[in-house]
Amino acid sequence: MTHQEIRHKFLDFFEKRGHKIVPSSSLLPDDPSVLFTTAGMQQFKPYYTGQADAMKDFGSLNTASIQKAMRTSDIDEVGDKSHLTFFEMLGNFSFGGYWKKEAIEYAYEFLTKELKLEIDYVSVFEGEKDIPADEESEKIWKSVAPGIEIKKMGREDNFWGPTGNEGPCGPTSEIFVNGVEVWNLVFNEYYCHPDGKLEKLKTSGVDTGMGLDRLSTVIQNKKNIFETDLLEPILKLAPLELEEKVKRVIADHSRAIAFLISDEVQPSNKEQGYILRRLMRRIITHNFIAKADLTLMHDIFAKIAEIYGQHYPNLNAGLIINIFDSEKEKFEKTLSHGLKELQKLDKIDAQSAFKLYESYGLPYEIIKELGEKKSEKLTREKFDEEFKKHQELSRAGAEKKFGGHGLLLDTGKLRAGNEQELKKATRLHTATHLLHTALRKILGNEVKQVGSDITAERLRFDFTFPRKLTNEEIKKVEDLVNEVIKKDLPVTKEEMPYEEALKTGALSFFKLKYPPKVNVYSVGDFSKELCGGPHVSHTGEIGKFSIKKEEAIGAGIRRIRAIVLEQ
Ligand code: ALA
Repeated sequence: MTHQEIRHKFLDFFEKRGHKIVPSSSLLPDDPSVLFTTAGMQQFKPYYTGQADAMKDFGSLNTASIQKAMRTSDIDEVGDKSHLTFFEMLGNFSFGGYWKKEAIEYAYEFLTKELKLEIDYVSVFEGEKDIPADEESEKIWKSVAPGIEIKKMGREDNFWGPTGNEGPCGPTSEIFVNGVEVWNLVFNEYYCHPDGKLEKLKTSGVDTGMGLDRLSTVIQNKKNIFETDLLEPILKLAPLELEEKVKRVIADHSRAIAFLISDEVQPSNKEQGYILRRLMRRIITHNFIAKADLTLMHDIFAKIAEIYGQHYPNLNAGLIINIFDSEKEKFEKTLSHGLKELQKLDKIDAQSAFKLYESYGLPYEIIKELGEKKSEKLTREKFDEEFKKHQELSRAGAEKKFGGHGLLLDTGKLRAGNEQELKKATRLHTATHLLHTALRKILGNEVKQVGSDITAERLRFDFTFPRKLTNEEIKKVEDLVNEVIKKDLPVTKEEMPYEEALKTGALSFFKLKYPPKVNVYSVGDFSKELCGGPHVSHTGEIGKFSIKKEEAIGAGIRRIRAIVLEQ
């Protein structure tokens, strides 16, 4: 059975049983306390607590989904038989619609009747301190599958949640096939508060999760997840000269990279962007050391889009390749220096490891891996501590770095070295907002920003659009921006909660972790964007706007370079 068939079988099964099929949410959740979506239930959190109404939103108290998820806690284990960063989860959920009996019956019927699998054993929660044992699930299992082996386990194994700081949580019952845990049934009876206190939920809910990679391994009778039709075609494209473990790392990481980029993450030194960068740099380093042909990565990303494209139409191989190649270009320059530096060291502790990271961008796992004995004592925790220390220091002076050769301003997309440059870059920055809106007005809303870079000389703006712009279109965009400049519209800033900002229709860039309060910059009633500034106070200050170049930088991605002139 192919993964496509498994997907359809699962969704059909639950749709026929009154579940509303809900599309996967983004890998970047709305919940600011977590970096990534790690489970199917995450998008449904408010339905368990009664903050949102499932009946109103889904027309049913029960839903099912195939959810994209990312877990980074096991990132260093990837390469063995079972660990992954990116994966998909099949799940059925109920917010007061049904409870343990139906959840267990559905799972049993689906596995044994639809998929014809044999269950080894199941587990239930044995109770702990103030939380009672789940005798109800035990009883249900005994009647649903007489004679089945039932293991009783503690909180470590058979209690779920919460995701993030707080949220629904409860005992679980897990189902094992071929020695692998395939399905986790969670019975959310409690709300777990940030201090760890459990409060009984008014309405109990069901949350289940079954990893598609694991399930495919079992159904397709494979020895490990890398042999399934989800990962094998990717792994097969990895450079032949690499060892098996590294090929697995490439298969896993490239899939995660593809999905992160399709959810609009860009490599950076912060949060989700940092994870993306780490994944990319690990692949780049391995290939670099093996002197492997990195254009193979193009085939890999194209293959990923082929395998998953049907379910995730926003996977754009062109964009992924483009972002990957640009990171590779940047990184390879320093990589060989970094490796030489690493070889010179006798011992690598957290401080020297962080230095290697900071000066040469060598990722932790590369330092750990290549340092071998020298980095024996280095741990992720110690490295992260060093990283945090540094982040706090740099946050203190983040926006303004005065001094000798320091940049006056470096926001990642806006760079200036002195007051004069800052003024010019600021004019270009407001012009970028006008260009963004003008492109959408002239070409339509399929235009989405995928990158921006501003220096004192020029702006550069990358966006999605399927074809070359005609000269006429370029002129129209340019004219529209100049028209708005002539009107001398005021630029105003408003601080508001993130959610509210989105509701105003303000354009937001990569859906990175915005702070709970964001700034929305409006240019008259022409444009509205979430942004950190700085901007001119009136559009007249921008001067004359002129587009210098329009080109393709990948399939479906265009780049515009433009300048502003004093009027
Ligand atoms: N939320 C549960 C899990 O991810 C089902 O394992």
